[in-house]
Amino acid sequence: MRVLAVGGAGYVGSHVVRKLCDGHHHVVVLDNLSTGHAQAVRAASRGAAELIQGDAGDQTLVEDILRSRKIDAVMHFAAASLVGESMQNPSKYWRNNVSCTVELLDAMARAGVDRIVFSSSAAVYGEPRQTPIPEDHLKSPTSTYGMTKLAIEHMLAGYHSAHGIKSISLRYFNAAGADAPGDIGEDHDPETHLIPIVLKTALGLRHRLSIFGTDYPTPDGTCVRDYVHVCDLADAHLAALERLAGQDGASAYNLGNGAGFSVREVLRCAEKIVDRPIAAAEDQRRPGDPAVLVASSKLAQRELGWKPAQASLEHIIASAWAWHSAAPDGYSE
Ligand code: UFG
Repeated sequence: MRVLAVGGAGYVGSHVVRKLCDGHHHVVVLDNLSTGHAQAVRAASRGAAELIQGDAGDQTLVEDILRSRKIDAVMHFAAASLVGESMQNPSKYWRNNVSCTVELLDAMARAGVDRIVFSSSAAVYGEPRQTPIPEDHLKSPTSTYGMTKLAIEHMLAGYHSAHGIKSISLRYFNAAGADAPGDIGEDHDPETHLIPIVLKTALGLRHRLSIFGTDYPTPDGTCVRDYVHVCDLADAHLAALERLAGQDGASAYNLGNGAGFSVREVLRCAEKIVDRPIAAAEDQRRPGDPAVLVASSKLAQRELGWKPAQASLEHIIASAWAWHSAAPDGYSE
């Protein structure tokens, strides 16, 4: 298939680009490189994917790419994704995530491209009332970021009714790890995610880890999350693409392992892998962090045939370590 990966130069996007290229799909990446890396696209695709620098919200550009490259399906990873920042600067999130997606979908409707896989998030649920969280759980996002992801899911339903655009939204829980060769991985600036921060501390690039909150109602008082290997997420995208070929409608699936690990458990596991102590200090809660976020991914297993192949936390952290220790400063461009 001919796939346009919007935001394909980012962390999850680049891992999906690799799987698509490995599966002999033709891949075009559209990315404005505001947070993504040209080197990630080159490395992920081993030079096979075309990278076009531009905005998802540039409807004329997107329509032109869809037509000229004869694109069959779109994968949409591009978004601003910092929960804290989304509360300080909602305008950036509504514009960047929601407005750009309106333009992207309009371009698809005009060009007659009728399939899209969208990167959604566990953030659509807000504070869970039930664990593990099923897809039909109440959606009550506690951040602007989560609201924008939920708004786009609603938008996709509307574009299906009006324009016949079929979609699958994939609600990622905590994406982590890196592809085995360690040549592509997570490189955010600023980095806010737990596993990269822990590993950068082990490398001496950060002073210490701050443990955000030790008084949560969890077994050791720290937050519990469902860490899912980025290559398993990538597999789900390919399964979604396949399903869209035969399925109509706009649907959504959780992607997680169904197992939760606390901040302290992640830290201990990382210390075992890097074989050295990692400096950490207890700190205040980070506003907006739910105590526990764990996915039920039964629906994805049943309907997409998705089964995480790299579910162990040790493996996830070891694969992230291979990347961070090989490229402590991340990508060079
Ligand atoms: N944490 C620390 N110290 C740090 C960084 C994180 O203690 O320096 C803790 C957080 O408080 C949280 C856990 O580690 O309890 C995981 O935090 P991350 O920032 O790695 O991930 P989140 O669970 O906050 O975020 C993820 C996704 C978001 C998504 C969110 C809610 O990265 O995109 O889940 O679904 F919005």
